[in-house]
Amino acid sequence: MKADLIVGIQWGDEGKGKIVDLLAQNYGVVCRYQGGHNAGHTIVVDGRRVALHLIPSGILNPEAVNVIGNGVVVSPKALIEEMAQFDNLEGRLLISDKAHLIFPYHEEIDRAKERLRGSKAIGTTGRGIGPAYADKVSRQGHRMGELEDIEKLHQKIMDYFETNRPYFQALGVEPPEGERLKEELKRYREALLPYVTDVTQYLWEVLERGERRVLLEGAQGTLLDIDHGTYPYVTSSNTIAAGACSGLGLAPKDIGNVIGIAKAYSTRVGNGPFPTEDHGLDGERLRRQGNEFGTTTGRARRCGWFDAVAARYACRINGCHELALMKLDVLDGFDRVKICVSYRYRGEEIDYLPSDLEGVEPLYIEMEGWESVQGIDNYRDLPKGARAYIEKLEELVETPISIISTSPDRKDTIFRKERP
Ligand code: GDP
Ligand code: IMO
Ligand code: MG
Repeated sequence: MKADLIVGIQWGDEGKGKIVDLLAQNYGVVCRYQGGHNAGHTIVVDGRRVALHLIPSGILNPEAVNVIGNGVVVSPKALIEEMAQFDNLEGRLLISDKAHLIFPYHEEIDRAKERLRGSKAIGTTGRGIGPAYADKVSRQGHRMGELEDIEKLHQKIMDYFETNRPYFQALGVEPPEGERLKEELKRYREALLPYVTDVTQYLWEVLERGERRVLLEGAQGTLLDIDHGTYPYVTSSNTIAAGACSGLGLAPKDIGNVIGIAKAYSTRVGNGPFPTEDHGLDGERLRRQGNEFGTTTGRARRCGWFDAVAARYACRINGCHELALMKLDVLDGFDRVKICVSYRYRGEEIDYLPSDLEGVEPLYIEMEGWESVQGIDNYRDLPKGARAYIEKLEELVETPISIISTSPDRKDTIFRKERP
């Protein structure tokens, strides 16, 4: 059996949590493969809101096993806090022994570097994501499996501080106090070690047996990918579908259906190029109607119209078989809706994404708006304008839109094809 995959095709916050939660009812295993607690996924069930950062959004299906892969960077402190929301996670949560650890000093480094960057700050979530991945890549990180031997891990962390002393001094980051660190590590071991295992082996067996369907849940979005996003204004992991292979130990042949998640308009939180950003009344109205404030940091999200050039690029790079279009109701009541169909770049009109998005000017088409789609759960019942908008997007991004979401609630979702 193959694993199906969900991936954000914009700058994150597309509504991945809602779709993973919804589809997870038909999956036995849900896995995160990159990112950390920079992610924020809000799920609404019967009016109750649940915010998830590290635990996969399959956790609300009591039958599903939730896996945190080796590609994720795990803050033990944040994970323990998040786990406290749920009863009896035994057998329902597995954490890779190869996942790298985020410690409080990573968060301090993250914030110190942002301060030093001044006006060129990335606008990170301040969760220590970049510094933890930097330690991993420079081969001085610490991994989940090391919690087994606290004495050894403690010594390794103290040595790490010794080796990097000049760097920490320059950033004004204090080394942890020895005894306090040891106590903390003991707490982490006690709370987390029972869940730590070789998740790659587990997934190989699950796929081989074929009894449980596997869903892979991307965090962030394609345009925040470290290689293919708007570098350097990106996160520090491979957010695209390909990241699922390295982040879980799967082979390309293990990946089945790829579902891209898109918002019916665009948002971005943090700094960096955003061609369709609207600084005027439309942007303001999208923020208000879409309640575009971050789940993780509470920051106001930057808003603008749908960017079909960026979305087509994202569908290609992820190999999306289909798309879920989220938050269509947020466009309710606009007289006209706009779609960016090409860019003006260095005096020419182009229909592709240049590696440097700075200085790109969006070129739009306008379509008629509609009154309301709020809560509609059947395609035929959508107003004509909304259907025309959806069909235009499909044509522009060259990918079928098979799921449409018309409110935060699970039940307000249109499925245009039978799902296995
Ligand atoms: P994620 O990071 O991709 O999981 O997305 P977030 O949870 O950060 O942001 C999406 C927000 O939109 C959440 O607050 C959801 O409850 C909400 N949401 C999801 N789908 C819809 C929808 O169709 N309509 C509206 N109005 N809100 C939605
Ligand atoms: P979900 O999974 C939106 C953004 C930050 C910043 C950049 C780098 O909820 O879609 P980082 O802390 O990762 O080093 O910050 O990435 N960012 C997100 N934006 N949704 C997210 O996750 C994000 N995770 C990180 O705002 O611009
Ligand atoms: Mg989010």
